[in-house]
Amino acid sequence: MSSALETERPLFIVFEGIDGAGTTTQAQAACAWLEESTQNPVFLTREPSQGPIGALLHQALRRRIEFDPRVMSLLFAADRLDHLFEEIQQHLKDGVAVICDRYYLSSLAYQMVDAPQDLEWLDQLNAKAISPDLTILLDVPADVAMDRICRGRLNLDLYENLDRQKLVRDNYLHLAEHRRRPDERIEVVDGHRAQEQVLSDICELIASV
Ligand code: TYD
Repeated sequence: MSSALETERPLFIVFEGIDGAGTTTQAQAACAWLEESTQNPVFLTREPSQGPIGALLHQALRRRIEFDPRVMSLLFAADRLDHLFEEIQQHLKDGVAVICDRYYLSSLAYQMVDAPQDLEWLDQLNAKAISPDLTILLDVPADVAMDRICRGRLNLDLYENLDRQKLVRDNYLHLAEHRRRPDERIEVVDGHRAQEQVLSDICELIASV
């Protein structure tokens, strides 16, 4: 279909967006599409990871334990490198494409809310995380995302509140526009549309890498 899908080099694709933007749904759908298109397996994964540091983070996000926001920043970055070294790079080395639901842009967009002055520090903490071939930022208004989350859930996670979601969305859009790494490609996709329409744009982008 395109050069990217025919290339020998496995793709590393990341999905980003505020909670409720649809990253999990679209990452799964894109994974199925890429497997079908390439007739090769794709490793679908997510952050926080299923590893030991990810387990701590999941407890903190469910409010079972509490850490200072600066400690959360360190844990997210540590979990990322553990995930990268133990899983992502292994798959890429074996020629398997990787789709990751959240990566270092989450660290910047979410953790910046607590301390905008710490952006440089957050960048440094994530400097060893290799750049993906493509980051798809699913953009959805915060109130739409909150409605989606609240529809299916009784308890909300740590960062799932409207005011914070608005700030995280602004951060994402700012970072995509003004702070991307020189070797980085970030594409903003309007996520406030029918799932099939969003997926169609995503597939086109992946095919263009
Ligand atoms: P989410 O991706 O919705 O996963 P789950 O379905 O397990 O709840 O939640 C992860 C939350 O963690 C989300 O609110 C974003 C936040 N987060 C950060 O703040 N920084 C990060 O670096 C990452 C990876 C996630």
